[in-house]
Amino acid sequence: MEEIIVNAGGCLSRIFVGQHREDIARMIPGKGVVIITDDNVYSVYGKEFPGFPVLRIKPGEGSKQLKTVELLAAGLLEHNIDRSGFLLGIGGGVVCDITGFLASVFMRGISFGFVSTSLLSQVDASTGGKNGVNLGEIKNLIGIFRQPEFVVCDTEMLKTLPEDEYFSGLAELIKTGIIGDPSIIESLEKDHQKVRNRDPELLSDLVGRAVKYKASVVTADERESGLRRVLNFGHTFGHAIELHKGIKHGFAVAAGMELSLRWSRELEYIDNDTCERILNLFSLYNLRFDWHMSPDDMRKLISHDKKKSGGDIYFVFVKGTGKPFVKLLPVSELIDFYSRITRK
Ligand SMILES: NC(=O)c1ccc[n+]([C@@H]2O[C@H](COP(=O)([O-])OP(=O)(O)OC[C@H]3O[C@@H](n4cnc5c(N)ncnc54)[C@H](O)[C@@H]3O)[C@@H](O)[C@H]2O)c1
Repeated sequence: MEEIIVNAGGCLSRIFVGQHREDIARMIPGKGVVIITDDNVYSVYGKEFPGFPVLRIKPGEGSKQLKTVELLAAGLLEHNIDRSGFLLGIGGGVVCDITGFLASVFMRGISFGFVSTSLLSQVDASTGGKNGVNLGEIKNLIGIFRQPEFVVCDTEMLKTLPEDEYFSGLAELIKTGIIGDPSIIESLEKDHQKVRNRDPELLSDLVGRAVKYKASVVTADERESGLRRVLNFGHTFGHAIELHKGIKHGFAVAAGMELSLRWSRELEYIDNDTCERILNLFSLYNLRFDWHMSPDDMRKLISHDKKKSGGDIYFVFVKGTGKPFVKLLPVSELIDFYSRITRK
């Protein structure tokens, strides 16, 4: 079991990787706890939950809205939760984002922690203190920065994750390999059979490396005013593709990363070998997706991106594995590149 610390916003957040879920009862208060989860996670693990009231949401992105937060807040009142209460979110990124947001606004803020059950939330969503919900189609528009007291990433739990969710999470793991820790790329190439078999020890090692990288970035720049922007690698085109094609977040980010790599190659920031090596890794894990849409649709969708500053957008390129950098570019430059590449 490995413990990684995020030190941000004056708070320490402890991330435990490889921790067995049986230990959770020792990490939460003895009273005043409510558990938030979704129906899928409850049906697999509900019997093992600590003995506190459970509020369940419907699985999936559709639940990430203010209405759900309102209903859950009413549930907390019914269970007499006051400012000394504690929320434990047990689930993937959707449950963690909602739990963190609810805990941050309920009675102006109560304590919370996560048991992160999907690969995407273990390597990304549950670390870093971003909590929020969507507004209509616009993702995470309403949100807050607040760190959980702890996050437990038990990689045994990934065994029950549906296949497509697992591979969607692998895309975010590859992202960390590209921008932060190239040793992740090497392991994913070398041990690909073990990764496919969801070997919990190997996964603990990989999740640990991803969390360490994200923790270092968030500790340096919690509010995304500089360094943290690199975590959006692949996400500018990715979010647009996700909305247009309705495919899973990680799959769309993989498509967005492919475009960012190709653009980095076109501008000679990376050589052909580096680009091809990573595209081959995407192929190895069936993460090559059709990113074609009309440049006009792409422009409309990118115009909603929260990372925009006026008519410009912070775009993440790479100069090699582990060497991301951010450029503020007019949206028109992104669309020029996208038009060029769709014609090829
Ligand atoms: N806060 C952040 O920094 C951050 C970063 C990245 C993504 N996100 C958010 O995370 C969300 C996506 O997270 P996700 O991919 O985990 O989606 P999710 O929470 O919807 O989980 C995916 C599916 O897997 C099921 N599931 C989860 N764990 C399981 C398990 N162990 N066994 C069986 N089924 C399980 C869930 O019920 C759900 O149906 C998006 O809303 C995205 O915006 C947030």
